[in-house]
Amino acid sequence: MPDNPFFPKLFAPIDIGGVSLRNRIIHAAIVTQYVANHAPTDRLLNYYRARASGGAAAIVTEPIAMTEFSRLPSRLRCWDDEGFDDLCRVAAVINDQGAHVLGQIQDSGRGRHAVGRNDHAVGASALPDDLSWTVPAALSGGRIRQMIDDWANGARRLQRAGFSGVEISAGHGHLFHQFLSPWSNQRLDEYGGALQNRMRFLTELISAIRSACERPFIIALKLPGDDGVPSGIDLEMASAINAILAKQAGDIDLWTWVWGAHARSLYHHLPDAHGPRHPYLEQIRALRSQHPDITTGAIGYLTDPGECEAALVDGTADVVFLGRPLITDPQFPEKAASGNANAIRYCVSCNSCWRSIIEAGSLACDNNPKLAESDEVPLGLPKATRQKNIVIVGSGVAALEAAHTAAERGHRVVVFGRSDAVGGKTRLHADMPGGENLSSVYDYQLLAAQQHGVKFLLGQDASVDTVLACNPDVVLLATGSRSARPNWLPKDWEAQDLVPSLREIAQQLTLGMPHVSGRAVVVDQDHTEMTYAVALRLSQHFDEVTLVTSRERFAHDMSLINRQGTLQRLFDAHISLINHVEPASLERLEDGVLLLKNVYNGDMTELTDVACLIHASNRVPNSEMLDPLRSAGVEVIPIGDCRAPRSLMAATRDGYAVAAAI
Ligand SMILES: Cc1cc2nc3c(=O)[nH]c(=O)nc-3n(C[C@H](O)[C@H](O)[C@H](O)COP(=O)(O)O)c2cc1C
Repeated sequence: MPDNPFFPKLFAPIDIGGVSLRNRIIHAAIVTQYVANHAPTDRLLNYYRARASGGAAAIVTEPIAMTEFSRLPSRLRCWDDEGFDDLCRVAAVINDQGAHVLGQIQDSGRGRHAVGRNDHAVGASALPDDLSWTVPAALSGGRIRQMIDDWANGARRLQRAGFSGVEISAGHGHLFHQFLSPWSNQRLDEYGGALQNRMRFLTELISAIRSACERPFIIALKLPGDDGVPSGIDLEMASAINAILAKQAGDIDLWTWVWGAHARSLYHHLPDAHGPRHPYLEQIRALRSQHPDITTGAIGYLTDPGECEAALVDGTADVVFLGRPLITDPQFPEKAASGNANAIRYCVSCNSCWRSIIEAGSLACDNNPKLAESDEVPLGLPKATRQKNIVIVGSGVAALEAAHTAAERGHRVVVFGRSDAVGGKTRLHADMPGGENLSSVYDYQLLAAQQHGVKFLLGQDASVDTVLACNPDVVLLATGSRSARPNWLPKDWEAQDLVPSLREIAQQLTLGMPHVSGRAVVVDQDHTEMTYAVALRLSQHFDEVTLVTSRERFAHDMSLINRQGTLQRLFDAHISLINHVEPASLERLEDGVLLLKNVYNGDMTELTDVACLIHASNRVPNSEMLDPLRSAGVEVIPIGDCRAPRSLMAATRDGYAVAAAI
């Protein structure tokens, strides 16, 4: 087969352990929560089918229930033959599209990032999980050997069902990682002590699976790189682990390394836009260089086919694993292979996906409102039965999502935007630290809208008359929201410059703000990414920045994983955080003094040297045009923040859902 002209290395086939892969892109394991009562839902099948038909060469599934400890209802049943037909169905939707499937072997051990503790946890030693303080029951040698048998039997069952291999998840702070690390394994038996012993659980499991499953059957390993835990696994220990595993090289077909653990370093699992892109490639290159013959995967914040190609060309890896990027765009491989990389809908590394599986019940994506729907791939939406004139007022992400979706369905669409540039408040966020990836959300939407013939009237303040002049059948009101006046700000307060809203100060920052002596105080009643991004930027312009909140913790409206990274950056920037307080008196603010009151006992604290008091308060919809337009007899649907101020995910979903239904 001739080389792919765009990314020749990425799309060169590869043989791994006798299994022939059509290219070098493997879907990394992703918990979806699309399994119910151990059985695949339609969404799970849609999800896997779309990623396989989008061109991934192989898909690593989410963890599958094979042992008595892992029988969570959200995992496919593989501990006996009762779920066998379901396993076959999962394998078939992937295999039918020319891709292979590897089942993931994983147990969280003592690790837990949901609320509370896990009363059923088992682990290496009775030592607390660093996040939940769950203390597991230490596994006996007999239970360990039973688990190994269960997993080997499970692997054989998967092979019968059409799976091409398994991936053992031995990183991310899960059970095997807990055995490998001296921080969590203080056993005195043959599974503890020296590294060779701490590795025994893993090495015995590899041998057991190899004996249970005839070749070709891939055994892949996800191993710890640097886990970021003092007295845990650093790169030197990771190398030592590799050296021992390399003696079993005949059994292992593929390996890769991941960062972080179930600890304060959890956020290293999912590197985000605050740090460098693909941050672990150099270390992966060093780790693989000692064992060049074992097929190596690279993983972590690789979001662009060019980056993937480069990691293969320079010998860092033989294949790439993509997690979040394939959630956002299942057709990433196909688009890259056909020279349409600019049509990829990019993952913005916001980690909302991770939050969604823990807090929202199932996998969701900020930038893919069709995730796991039956029509996710192919992208062609059903045409509207009657072409309508749709006028969209506003040009933020809800507006743009609606615009390209409606136009794709055959409607005539006009977008009014007050600003010359689209993107709304997401564009402002994109200008703040860690926000730059967000521009790809509206860039993609704009391109798609233009390709489908949407007419843009930018730099124009739409009025009821200008909207009606377009003769709309439907108006989508996407006029966004504005900051509410906080209840602690006196109604007759006049020194507006001294008490701007978060958005006002962010706008000033984008225009270039000189250094200001003194302290900026942000009253945080928002708790989302934007507030902390602005705080970081403020720390470059003020002598000091202080965040205050009435709540018991900061970043309350963020996932644990993003909260950790946020707190790390705030403390690195020496931004001070004060909980349980709200402003009590602004009387001496013009002299630089702010009085704060403890919300529980009323105790007062004085903050001095205050040069600016910023309110990150709730937002209120800009819905002023709603009633006049309705009174004029037009159907008006408010979307995005104009309907109710919420998240980026809510905005894209709203825009899509409304436009898909017109
Ligand atoms: C929503 C979500 C669920 C994940 N579930 C798993 C999992 O079940 N097992 C696993 O080994 N890794 C899991 N991961 C980690 C990914 O496999 C991958 O290591 C990580 O996302 C980094 O790759 P990326 O930058 O390409 O997303 C998950 C990641 C995300 C975002």
